[in-house]
Amino acid sequence: MSLTSTDTAAPRLATAARCPDGLVRAVRAEVRLALGWQKTADRVACALRANLPEPADLLPADLRQGDPSCYQSHLLYSEPDGSFSIAAMVWLPGQETIIHDHVAWCVTGVLQGREYEEIFALTNDGRALQLAARNVNTPGEVSGFAPPGDIHRVRNTGDTVAISMHIYGADISRLGNSIRREYTLPIRP
Ligand SMILES: [Fe+2]
Repeated sequence: MSLTSTDTAAPRLATAARCPDGLVRAVRAEVRLALGWQKTADRVACALRANLPEPADLLPADLRQGDPSCYQSHLLYSEPDGSFSIAAMVWLPGQETIIHDHVAWCVTGVLQGREYEEIFALTNDGRALQLAARNVNTPGEVSGFAPPGDIHRVRNTGDTVAISMHIYGADISRLGNSIRREYTLPIRP
C-alpha cells in the first residue's frame, strides 16, 4: 500500500513508495505489546532508531525532490488491523505544518536535512498558545510522543530537502492523516 498526500489533503496513490519489512516487523512487535500510548511511542522510537532507513529505501528519486505546492506525506504502510501506519514526509526549505496535535501516539525520525519543531501549551483557559519547547532535529534523531501535550508545528529550516519518517498509532489509510485538531489561536510570548 502506498498513498501520497499533504498532511491535510485526501491521500492519492503513489505506486513507487515502499517500507522495509524489517521496520514493519519491529514496529508490529512493539505495538502488539499494548503497553499504552507513551510506552508504545517510546518503544517504537527505539525500534525506528534500530531500523532507520535511507531515503532511497523508501521513495524513488522523483518523490524525494519535494513539491513546491506543499510538503508531502507518502503513506508507506498501514497495518491491516488499523493499529499503526508508517509514512515518509518530504519538505522543501521553508515548508511547514500548521500547528496541530494528533489522535494517537506518533514517532518521528529525521533521515535527511533539518527539521525545526516547536511545541506549544494551551494557556489563557485554552484561548491562546505559549511556546513550551523547540528542537532542531537532524538525521538520526528520533522522538516519540503521545497526547495530550503534543501540540506542535514542524518546519524545514535547512537549505536542502528534508525527509523524515512518521509512525502513527492510527490507520492513516482510512483517516487521511492523524491530526486531531488544527490550532489557529494567538501565540502569547
Ligand atoms: Fe504532527
